[in-house]
Amino acid sequence: MAGRIPDQFIDELLARTDLTDVVSSRISLKKTGQNYSALCPFHNEKSPSFSLNPNKQFYYCFGCGAGGNAISFVMEHDHLDFVDAIEVLAKDAGMEVPREQGAPDRYEQNAELLKRLSESATFYQRQLIEHSDKLKATDYLAKERGLSGQIAKVFGLGFAPSGWDNLLKSVGTRAEHQEQLYRGGMLIEKKDQTGHYYDRFRDRIIFPIRDSRGRVIGFGGRAFGDEKPKYLNSPETPVFQKSQELYGLFEAKQNTQSLDQVIVVEGYMDVIVLAQHGITNAVATLGTSVNSQHIRKLFKLVSKVILCFDGDKAGRSAAIRGLEASLPVMQDEKQLRFLFLPEGEDPDSLVRKEGKDAFNLRLEDSTSLSHVLFDHARNQVTLADEEGEAQFARNAMSMIQQIPKELTFRSILIKQLSEQSGIDSDTLGHTALPKVKPSYDKEAPSISSESEHYDYPAHDAPHHDYDDYPASPYPDYDSAPYSNNEYPSHTGKTGYKKKGKFNKQKDEAYFPPAPSSLSKIKQASLCLLLHPHIAQHIDIPDPIINQASDELKIFGKIWRYFAKHPEKNAGHLLGELAENITHQPIVDLLNHQDAGTKQKITNAKQEVLDMVSALERNLGLNNSIERLKNKGNESIKDTSTKQELRNLMDLIRQKKS
Ligand code: UTP
Ligand code: MN
Repeated sequence: MAGRIPDQFIDELLARTDLTDVVSSRISLKKTGQNYSALCPFHNEKSPSFSLNPNKQFYYCFGCGAGGNAISFVMEHDHLDFVDAIEVLAKDAGMEVPREQGAPDRYEQNAELLKRLSESATFYQRQLIEHSDKLKATDYLAKERGLSGQIAKVFGLGFAPSGWDNLLKSVGTRAEHQEQLYRGGMLIEKKDQTGHYYDRFRDRIIFPIRDSRGRVIGFGGRAFGDEKPKYLNSPETPVFQKSQELYGLFEAKQNTQSLDQVIVVEGYMDVIVLAQHGITNAVATLGTSVNSQHIRKLFKLVSKVILCFDGDKAGRSAAIRGLEASLPVMQDEKQLRFLFLPEGEDPDSLVRKEGKDAFNLRLEDSTSLSHVLFDHARNQVTLADEEGEAQFARNAMSMIQQIPKELTFRSILIKQLSEQSGIDSDTLGHTALPKVKPSYDKEAPSISSESEHYDYPAHDAPHHDYDDYPASPYPDYDSAPYSNNEYPSHTGKTGYKKKGKFNKQKDEAYFPPAPSSLSKIKQASLCLLLHPHIAQHIDIPDPIINQASDELKIFGKIWRYFAKHPEKNAGHLLGELAENITHQPIVDLLNHQDAGTKQKITNAKQEVLDMVSALERNLGLNNSIERLKNKGNESIKDTSTKQELRNLMDLIRQKKS
């Protein structure tokens, strides 16, 4: 982000903004005396408990306690972060948001590295024209893949000739440039020869990966034949985080007249070939499954996102992961659809075969989110009759509950489910299903999927291979049906009728117990227990460790121990804790069914870091929003409150940016 927004501007913006306009353009308000009232947009209710005071310029909900000023309303209602909320309000007020010169951002800090990446892209492009082997590459692109020179140019395709030091010699002319190329993932350090490098990309077609502003941040390289891996990608670098980027987004924005929907496909080639056929609004994930961050990013840009999958079984499981990633970031007014292609086809092959119009027809005909959700809930049913119905309802509800509470869309799905299952909406809405995701995920819905990136193994693994995907953050919908004894009783909420027949007695929970799932904090604790050496490389801020929650206390204990004793393992820790109350919870964690999976993961450190940063964000945000309550324009008039408000804004700003 560029720079800080000056405080005076925020004061000015709040003074010029009428909260009544802001709110009434989003929900319907009724005048009640001096104030306005409404059905609260932040929780489900039948009679209005949301109240807006136009004189004081604040709102408050007596039902759920939500409250604040215009900025917090837009943040919460539109699911925006602080800066984006300001942008929205400023636009309405016809004001331009000024920025102060602040600390350099990630890009500014890495300006030199980015220069080397851009030079690398140019180098590879030049090889398509100049290199003595260029025909190998141009023939491949034109004859085997049917690409026009023009589309190759739009996407900046290039050629990495064979050889160990083509790039090194041409772009890495100085030691510091080599170092930058290395940090940018372009060079690999020779074994046992610190400071000596060779080219990562050799004998490949090169796809520069640009961020949404067009800066080259990484590369994909395709082998010419059946060499493995088929695609080699830049590793994670300071400027390239695979799980956050979408290939082709910049080009889609550049080349689409009015970008109102985006298609998410799997491959670089799919994006390019679709574009060549006039479908310029496709993007691809970078070898990861689509995650919440991707969807959120796209929803900021367009109102409709279509996830495209192969029609086979692997495509269906990928679609379910897409569904799961989307639910927590859904918004009213935004649409998510699914396109299932015929078996054996990808968008590349299909659009060549059928042409643009037929492909567009498929897009128009794509499957709705609710259809996929109910279908999936139905497919997981293993029991007959009423019990099956209960299973179906439980499966569906556990997904529907991932959708933000305030959305009309969620109520609609509950209503549909009620029609399909014969259970009334109220009962469905109130059935206490175990909460699957911790609440802070709502602020950072992506963290569950951030750890999703995996690189393709060098051996011949079809990229759909289910095992390549990490465990779903949600209950494992795709796994075999649970059996009662798999889920320790302490994880189930009381009141579940474990084996009973489905019946419709009021106040009784009908649903079989949901699969257990560890909270993010427990998962992070488990990561530390199973990968103790990572603790020393992780820094955990005091405010997190000092929180009152038992889970965090245990997490803190584990982290401190291993940070201090990196050579020890969970057995040592348990030995030391023999008499301590944290002993049993740690034993339980180690015995948890997820322990096997966690043992195998290779990104344990990232998982812990993700959890910590989500907590940090949440910590700052909650405190600040809490304190923003009841602070309207009027109170801003006195200077001490003004200063306090500024400090709060700073806090949110830091945590949210
Ligand atoms: P596909 O193998 O489906 O790619 O992988 P594709 O685009 O259809 O490739 P072509 O048509 O054979 O050239 C889809 C995506 O998965 C990632 C890449 O991002 C690729 O675009 N992938 C695939 C890898 O990262 N590594 C691999 O070895 C394979
Ligand atoms: Mn393909």
